[in-house]
Amino acid sequence: MAWTDLYRSKLTTADAALAAVRSGQRVFLHQGCAKPDALLDALTRRAPELRDIEIVHLATAGQADYTNAEFEGRFRHAAFFIAKNTRQAVRDGRADYIPIFIREIEGLFTSGAMPLDVALIQCTPPDDYGYLSLGPSVDIALTAARCARTLVVQVNDRMPRTMGNTFLHVSEPHAIVEHSQPLPEFPGGAITDTHRAIARHIAAMIPDGATLQAGIGAIPDAVFACLANHKDLGIHTEMLSDSALELIASGAVNNRRKTIHPDKALLSFVLGTQPLFDFIHNNPIFEFRTIAYTNDPFLIGRNDSMVAINAALQIDLTGQVCSDSIGCVPYSGVGGQVDFIRGAALSKGGVPIIALPSTAKNGTVSRIAPALTTGAGVVTTRADVRWVVTEFGAVNLHGRNLRQRAEALISIAHPSFQAGLEHALRRNPAGLPA
Ligand code: COA
Repeated sequence: MAWTDLYRSKLTTADAALAAVRSGQRVFLHQGCAKPDALLDALTRRAPELRDIEIVHLATAGQADYTNAEFEGRFRHAAFFIAKNTRQAVRDGRADYIPIFIREIEGLFTSGAMPLDVALIQCTPPDDYGYLSLGPSVDIALTAARCARTLVVQVNDRMPRTMGNTFLHVSEPHAIVEHSQPLPEFPGGAITDTHRAIARHIAAMIPDGATLQAGIGAIPDAVFACLANHKDLGIHTEMLSDSALELIASGAVNNRRKTIHPDKALLSFVLGTQPLFDFIHNNPIFEFRTIAYTNDPFLIGRNDSMVAINAALQIDLTGQVCSDSIGCVPYSGVGGQVDFIRGAALSKGGVPIIALPSTAKNGTVSRIAPALTTGAGVVTTRADVRWVVTEFGAVNLHGRNLRQRAEALISIAHPSFQAGLEHALRRNPAGLPA
């Protein structure tokens, strides 16, 4: 059958396509700005007749109504990464958090450890050969689409068509629903003077010709804003946000000196707004790959001068980095932080960086603490951590003993907390602050 006939034969309405979902099933949802809202709305409309549907995904943009209290017992979200729209539900116990290295999630699907009954994916309309692009989010979605027993695709002519390993063929979905709508946006957080001061320290550590990874949050965004005068930068990252736009458009990023995937910005997904969606559309600079590929630390390490920039919520004086929870309350996720910290450590001339403002809560809490708050999740271990940057400077903990680490971290703590940190350190001569 010609692909055009095949495509037409699969066209249906969202309500008809979602009628396939049965109580007790697990539904995978395309993440980030690729969230297929028309399919999700149809699933939510079925709430009165469904029970115990598990909805699994990474961070998404826009609304997540299925996590509202009214849907308890009907829908339960399992988060590989918590975003603003799901945070309250996790906090209230209506949704679950799964701590996992992001590059290992696809293995849950392919091994059958986490079988997927239904995948809800959003794509571009087919090209001349019958291929539908997954647009801004290839990440774990391509693999999920191929592992799910039932694949439902929302075809949206507002989806950017992206390059790389981003395509499903029209023969793959079981049902196709055409629905045009703007993509939900994921704007970055406000950049403060503190973020700018941190970014200036980091920019000074980045040589021309470096390959960059930027994690999620205001600090990576602030760093990109400081790099306009750099030359021949490259990108190998899991995600990009709006902050990359200007850097690439201005030519500061040209990917020419990259030692693997030269001439391409290698990435797995973008979280941003419409100008970024427009920029990635049909843009051959970008090579989108699955996260299992982009986040392989050994692949990352083959980039010379790989600079990994990731943020944190808290660090203790031995260098244990908490990035996914505030105390015992889950906040975000493990993501690719460790993959890139390890990858940059393997790179010739690599610079693995953890960055954080020295304080939180309007300066009332030091993020550099004698010990992590009870329940805090260590994402980057003290054996993995290397450069730590606050607005007061940058220190390298690699190869340093416990006492030297503590002294280094105290030197970049907020001055109003330094005496208290020193006191904690003096209480235990073994070097572990007590
Ligand atoms: N104690 C109490 N509250 C704290 C705190 C602490 N030690 N540290 C931070 N907070 C609060 C902040 O005040 C802020 O609250 P607000 O939203 O009310 O202002 C909130 O927690 C978020 O902190 P902030 O530093 O502004 O977060 P961010 O948006 O810059 O993101 C991370 C930082 C660490 C949450 C984010 O980078 C992340 O999720 N990382 C995890 C994995 C990762 O790095 N992956 C890489 C690629 S995905």
